[in-house]
Amino acid sequence: MQYEPLIPNRLDEERGALVILDQTLLPAEVVYRPLYTTDEICHAIKTLQVRGAPAIGVAAAYGAYLAARNACRDSMESFFADFTAACDALAASRPTAVNLFWALRRMGACAEKHRGEALDAVVSALLAEAKAIHEEDIAQNFAISRFGLELLRPGDGILTHCNAGPIATSRYGTALGPILLGQERGYGFHVFADETRPLLQGARLTAFELYRAGVDVTLICDNMASMVMKNGWVQACLVGCDRVAANGDTANKIGTSGVAILAKHYGIPFYVCGPTTTVDLDTPDGAHIPIEQRDPEEIRSLWYKAPMAPPCKMYNPAFDVTDHSLIAGIVTEKGVARPPYTQSLKNLMAK
Ligand code: MRU
Repeated sequence: MQYEPLIPNRLDEERGALVILDQTLLPAEVVYRPLYTTDEICHAIKTLQVRGAPAIGVAAAYGAYLAARNACRDSMESFFADFTAACDALAASRPTAVNLFWALRRMGACAEKHRGEALDAVVSALLAEAKAIHEEDIAQNFAISRFGLELLRPGDGILTHCNAGPIATSRYGTALGPILLGQERGYGFHVFADETRPLLQGARLTAFELYRAGVDVTLICDNMASMVMKNGWVQACLVGCDRVAANGDTANKIGTSGVAILAKHYGIPFYVCGPTTTVDLDTPDGAHIPIEQRDPEEIRSLWYKAPMAPPCKMYNPAFDVTDHSLIAGIVTEKGVARPPYTQSLKNLMAK
């Protein structure tokens, strides 16, 4: 793609740092932060400095490598104790996106495979594994962009929720990948970006990424999606995902399920885009997906000079689950899964 995206995660091998783009400061400032310790990386994931399911998987993989690099080398046991403690801490940073656990499982398996070799060799193997996870995510996102673009027509209006762009992945993006690829190929899409309360990933990140890529993007408040659809301005909805259960139920940013229900009402196809690293066949359905609850002050205080609501009770789930019956297709790097998902996802994963 000619469009030069921002890079959410980069390893600085010389300094022994994971350099992240601090997404909490966008769009006002583009700041890259070097992170050296497991604590710093956990904090960056929890506070959404680095966010988006594939991007936190990559951050965790580099975090595991850095933990191994800095682990106690007195003995194989002390090395593995440090490494395992770091992986456990990283795994506790956020609960919903399965990419985090997938990446850490893969790093753990790599370490086990090399257990018994010189510690330098174990650390080198972990470096290679983290880089492979990163590279694979880039390739997967590009494939998703190509498959997703095949579902769209030039001039389409597309509605998206939250941010599933290059900064939520390693490059290209999942839901924004087809849009950005289409932009390069002159498709002339018109994109509606839900602002995505309460953390405004749609306004701060999606509108920003699409605008700087030259895409015709219109920012709307979440409660305007129905109006925009009713006006006939939306031909497809594209969203990302944090975990796809075996039956196709999909967790994504809070508000996604409402968009899917509206899309069904207006007869608009609703597509979920994500790499197979986000598909979790061990989770049977959406009821089994853990949903992150975040500090309710994000609703009342985060974006305001003074609290904008009384000190009443608040409820701030970070994700919701879209029922599989509302999803027209799940676009992965291996192709598009169609209903019934229990079979199609299993087939896709076996490819
Ligand atoms: O809380 P966030 O900002 O990490 O939530 C992100 C989303 O819900 C994205 O849509 C999802 O992770 C897919 S990113 C390709």
